[in-house]
Amino acid sequence: MKETQDTIFADIPELRFVERDDARSIKSFVLRGTRLKGFQVEAVRAYYHDYVIPYSGKMTDFDALFANGKPLIIEIGFGMGVATHLIARDRPEYNYLGIEVFLSGFTKLLDKIGKEGLTNVRLMRFDAVAVLSEMVGDSTVAGFHIFFPDPWPKKRQHKRRLIQHEFATLLAQKLVPGGYIYAVTDWQEYADQMVEVFDSVEGLTNPHGTFAPPVSWRPETRFEQKGREKEHAINEVWVEKVR
Ligand SMILES: C[S@@+](CC[C@H](N)C(=O)[O-])C[C@H]1O[C@@H](n2cnc3c(N)ncnc32)[C@H](O)[C@@H]1O
Repeated sequence: MKETQDTIFADIPELRFVERDDARSIKSFVLRGTRLKGFQVEAVRAYYHDYVIPYSGKMTDFDALFANGKPLIIEIGFGMGVATHLIARDRPEYNYLGIEVFLSGFTKLLDKIGKEGLTNVRLMRFDAVAVLSEMVGDSTVAGFHIFFPDPWPKKRQHKRRLIQHEFATLLAQKLVPGGYIYAVTDWQEYADQMVEVFDSVEGLTNPHGTFAPPVSWRPETRFEQKGREKEHAINEVWVEKVR
């Protein structure tokens, strides 16, 4: 049975809102209404309270929420959540906070982690820029995963790209010393921009100089598949916060 997102919003009104009313610094996503399958609605009913952290705009102790002493990795824009699910399952020594506004992907991942009973994942449906600036403490994040962020290819759209100086500075601020940012894209010119932007942020260092070799534990994502079909090169960027 097909359901609309309104079914879910009627149950959990706070899921409806993904951004603050005031202007955002980067408008990095466009939201469209989405139809959901029955299992996605059921996933929200079954697993919302165990896995979803509502946006509060208040500084939050994520370590206390997980209560297991593991370092925190934040993934921004997990899409369908393929990588989030597999990485969280296969690398249980970390906690993962996945942030995504796209409701269909959000509910699919919620279904997966809920059915498998993973204990090291939490999800948020809200603008990641607001979540990071308002809810995440400085020097508390062990790593950021940003896989195939929207490339916003037209020149006049470049201002909507996530990886630009201001946001990269915010990421660096949130990292623990030695923490990492791992970003991957199939858009060559955005890849070059990522290297340049991270180079421009004080306190970040790029151990590979430019692009990094692929990391064995990163599964292929939906957008990576699309990029490969178009024969785009996949570029990985890995930078670290100096200790
Ligand atoms: C091109 S998709 C890539 C999805 C997935 N990582 C993959 O590789 O298949 C980028 C995703 O980032 C999400 N996104 C963009 N800006 C965001 C923001 N500020 N906060 C949360 N999610 C965001 C979009 O909704 C979209 O699903």
